[in-house]
Amino acid sequence: MDGNGRWAQQRGLPRLEGHRAGADSVRDITRFSREHGLEALTLYAFSAQNWARPADEVRGLMELLRDFLVDERAEIMDNGIRLEAIGEIAQLPGLVREPLDELRAASAENHGLVLTLALSYGGRESIARAACAAVRAALAGGLRPEELDADRLGAFLPTAKLPPLDLLIRTSGEQRVSNFMLWEIAYAELMFVDVLWPDFRRGDFAKCLDNFDARERRFGLTSAQLADSSDV
Ligand code: IPE
Ligand code: MG
Repeated sequence: MDGNGRWAQQRGLPRLEGHRAGADSVRDITRFSREHGLEALTLYAFSAQNWARPADEVRGLMELLRDFLVDERAEIMDNGIRLEAIGEIAQLPGLVREPLDELRAASAENHGLVLTLALSYGGRESIARAACAAVRAALAGGLRPEELDADRLGAFLPTAKLPPLDLLIRTSGEQRVSNFMLWEIAYAELMFVDVLWPDFRRGDFAKCLDNFDARERRFGLTSAQLADSSDV
């Protein structure tokens, strides 16, 4: 979700107003995802590197996150959404962590859309943590080092509980991944959209999904192989 600051700057507003407008996009995209029957939606809301932003911006973002969790609680529960979080959740201030933990627990048995917030999240950091967990498992005797392959290491990632990543969208025109889901994007379709996040609404998202549907995903195979396997 990129471009909140530029959206505000274009209007001569403080950056926080861009984040506030961005929260409305979050609501719209989440609602559309549920209505559209998507299995999972993960939002990169705050990176491990975003802590280095000015303190008042970080505080404002944390307050907006808290407001989102409080305001959306009823909609999440009424619609069977399961709220998840990935990242260094322990680093978040109590005003976010407490409603987040509460809603994660309350929604744990819901079976609709899995809405995951990536908070204090970094892709490299999460791979490093997975490696650390694998080393621990090896030291404890539960894993032989030579058995550690991509599937086994991936199982230690926080995204192991999510379906495989199909589509990654970055808004605002930047063509970078910025430390998001570095492991998980192996065969994801990437989309870089020239719309600032606060302007990105369901119509833009629907276009991305149409674009996604039109792509042939080969996973290292040939088109002919894919055609053969769809015949059987
Ligand atoms: C993304 O918008 C939102 C967060 C990082 C929370 P930015 O704040 O990065 O917006 P730009 O890139 O400055 O326009
Ligand atoms: Mg940005």
